[in-house]
Amino acid sequence: MLKGTEWFASDRPDDHMRPKTVNDMRRFIEGMPKAELHVHVEGTLEPALKLELARRNGIELPYRSVEEMRAAYDFDDLPSFLRVYYEGMSVLLTEQDFRDLTAAYLTRAHSQNVTYAEMFFDPQAHTARGVAFETVIRGIRRAQEEARASLGIRTRLIMCFLRDLSAQSAMATLEESRPYRDWIVGVGLDSDESGNPPIKFKAVFATARAQGFRLTMHCDVDQEDSTRHIWQTLDDIGVDRIDHGVNSLEDEALCAEIVRRGLALTVCPISNRCVAGSLKALEVRRMLEMGMRATVNSDDPAYFPGYMNENLVATWEAAELSREQIVQLAVNAFEASWAAPEEKLALRSELDDYVASQGAGRQGEPLVRG
Ligand code: HPA
Ligand code: ZN
Repeated sequence: MLKGTEWFASDRPDDHMRPKTVNDMRRFIEGMPKAELHVHVEGTLEPALKLELARRNGIELPYRSVEEMRAAYDFDDLPSFLRVYYEGMSVLLTEQDFRDLTAAYLTRAHSQNVTYAEMFFDPQAHTARGVAFETVIRGIRRAQEEARASLGIRTRLIMCFLRDLSAQSAMATLEESRPYRDWIVGVGLDSDESGNPPIKFKAVFATARAQGFRLTMHCDVDQEDSTRHIWQTLDDIGVDRIDHGVNSLEDEALCAEIVRRGLALTVCPISNRCVAGSLKALEVRRMLEMGMRATVNSDDPAYFPGYMNENLVATWEAAELSREQIVQLAVNAFEASWAAPEEKLALRSELDDYVASQGAGRQGEPLVRG
């Protein structure tokens, strides 16, 4: 299983020996304007920044170097990942910390030609440590505004509730977010799915819907009762999107309903490899072939080693996707985004211009793999 110490596929030493078509496709993916719809901002906390913030805040970490920290990223399922993820957050204390965290992610995303990003944040993971909601959201917001001005990247914020806490705590967090209503486009549900089905949060999500929030929920990969949970997100919650949701492929009627509703799924291949042992790349391809609106995303890229480009390249290589299918993944993400209609048009036309400039707009052009 891949550990945090193994790094990006694009850093492979044999890169120059790979067939030209392969490098062409990689360059195509890297240059393509992209939307990221599933990234936890706290999951973008790179080891170097974690060490710097620990120093700044006088916090003792059990690691002295980036290498030691990466070596300790020894997870192989969701609960073991979550332990490392929550522990990492202990260094985030001030508004400046949240600004710096978000700014670092947005700079990196921009460098990969991500033109639009919807970021999750986990307020309860901070308020439970005594860090005020206001501190968290003001820091993130400042970085969003700065990145829009300096890099041109457009962003939105999605507030996730921790499903292993009570529905009452989620409702209190929803209430706490009220002064910042205009800074949050939607609500989501993350953390440990085991024993915490979507229906536990039915009232919270109904209230959020009534307040005008968009709704999404994690249906993590290979969880117990996964298809039952996905059905609940449709029938009991009425989500606008599904995060992960790969196990829907086990249920034909469920897939048909997802297609009928035009719901997008935010698949995170390198995350899947780290916590479920496989990229689930063939599943992404199947979704595309079935007309499901699959997207590829990075989830927690500082922990699951790979940002948008590495996730797309890994999926393309493993599933032998055509160039048309790669473009479809990007189209799906822009179309399923919660950007304003005029922004969506601008973002789409950037993508369309890029594809046309690369001569990749012809129908059914398969990639000839060397
Ligand atoms: N699943 C559930 N909770 C999470 C994740 C995830 O992939 N990342 C951060 N919190
Ligand atoms: Zn996630």
